[in-house]
Amino acid sequence: MIPKLVFASNNEHKTSEIKSLLKDKYEILNLKDINCTTDIPETGNTFAENATLKSSFVTQNYQIDCFADDSGLEIEALNLAPGIYSARYAGTRNDLDNLNLVLKNMQGKTNRQARFKTVISLQLNGKNYLFEGKIEGKIAEKATGKDGFGYDPIFIPDGYSISFAEMSKTQKNKISHRALAVQQLISFLNGV
Ligand code: IMP
Repeated sequence: MIPKLVFASNNEHKTSEIKSLLKDKYEILNLKDINCTTDIPETGNTFAENATLKSSFVTQNYQIDCFADDSGLEIEALNLAPGIYSARYAGTRNDLDNLNLVLKNMQGKTNRQARFKTVISLQLNGKNYLFEGKIEGKIAEKATGKDGFGYDPIFIPDGYSISFAEMSKTQKNKISHRALAVQQLISFLNGV
């Protein structure tokens, strides 16, 4: 029987990415599936703290093994902003506003190096395990591509000439920060 794990997220894009990364191995339940409607506060100062706040909230309140992720974009020329504030950088929680603010703040910057990071916190048998994935790339001068979400149209992974938003989901899933963190989670769970 396929084991069940809660992924503490309401983000449809991420849930579908993670489901496709874990398919055949785990049945992934999301917060809706366990009737959790609480907006779990992300008040930490790091990706790891925020991921742990979410996963431990679910495990403590629903007595079920769970993992949660926290991700974001760190841009060298902007002192690693937007970082943990990636989802609300422009103050509106709107992907396009966030992306446009990054492009504006990057005008005239020669160092365009950036990275996406994901930290996953897994609550398993009373312990917290952390996994990190990251991918280096450059902030483009303008947005290209229609797929993906968030900052995908302005992020060009190192070694590629197209943005994350110009890649198929399959291609992005092979190299993304989230994929790398999830692969670590899978190898760990396979070894348990
Ligand atoms: P979260 O903590 O994983 O929900 O990510 C926070 C924010 O980081 C998202 O709302 C996006 O703005 C950005 N982000 C995280 N992962 C990605 C990605 O794979 N592509 C584009 N933007 C991302």
